[in-house]
Amino acid sequence: MIPAMARAEGGAGVGSSPSSGTPRDPWAALGALCYPPRVNSSRGGFFIALEGIDGAGTSTQTRALAQRLIDDLGERVHMTCEPSRGPIGRMIREQLSAGAGAFNAETLALLFAADRLDHYEREIQPAIADGRVVISDRYVLSSLVYQSLECPAEWVETINARAPWPDLCVLVDLPWEEALARVARRRATSGEEKERYDEPDLQRRLAEGYGRARDAQRPGPIVTIDGGLTIDEVTERLFEAVRARLKA
Ligand code: TYD
Repeated sequence: MIPAMARAEGGAGVGSSPSSGTPRDPWAALGALCYPPRVNSSRGGFFIALEGIDGAGTSTQTRALAQRLIDDLGERVHMTCEPSRGPIGRMIREQLSAGAGAFNAETLALLFAADRLDHYEREIQPAIADGRVVISDRYVLSSLVYQSLECPAEWVETINARAPWPDLCVLVDLPWEEALARVARRRATSGEEKERYDEPDLQRRLAEGYGRARDAQRPGPIVTIDGGLTIDEVTERLFEAVRARLKA
């Protein structure tokens, strides 16, 4: 572990129209709810969510951004992730690699939403209240994009409507082909098992889902960073995006 990282807390891996008969567009309702931004914590803390398809680099960038905020700005940082490390998050992770016996899509969507509220109340909100910069590797936009593949988007929004929108939601944007190739390389070296969403067609549809949310800037503001840049360049852009908002 990089010594300064010890000051960062947390750390999972610290550190279509039905009436016309055309297929229903599952994304059409994305953004039907407008999430109010979290009541600003008067710089008591700041909440960042990093989002993107599998392989986009959110885990690497969570750590790298935390390190920059600690080293360059002296911030107190709390790193976290979803699924969370709490009881519901652990159950979800088991289910994601459970294959045929796994819970159905609706049950999983409810678990993701429950995990999120528990995560926010138990971990995120207290860290914000303590004045920390909280960086979550995935948050509510993941549910709106991933679970809307298999469940009605309006319903996914409804069950997530109590999750406060972060102060800064960043989409690390990478073409799905490239992201899939990265995941395949990682799996070849780590022996990681395949998970529920590790299929080319699903990754393509997930990338489209993130793209639609980004284009519509709904259900809340979404900042996009090109995930195809080098790791250091992505970190630099993230850092500048956060710094500008911390100063504001
Ligand atoms: P993640 O931990 O980012 O993947 P990895 O274990 O490869 O680092 O997330 C696990 C999977 O869960 C990922 O495929 C995305 C999915 N997911 C959802 O479907 N909905 C959600 O709300 C969240 C947070 C994750």
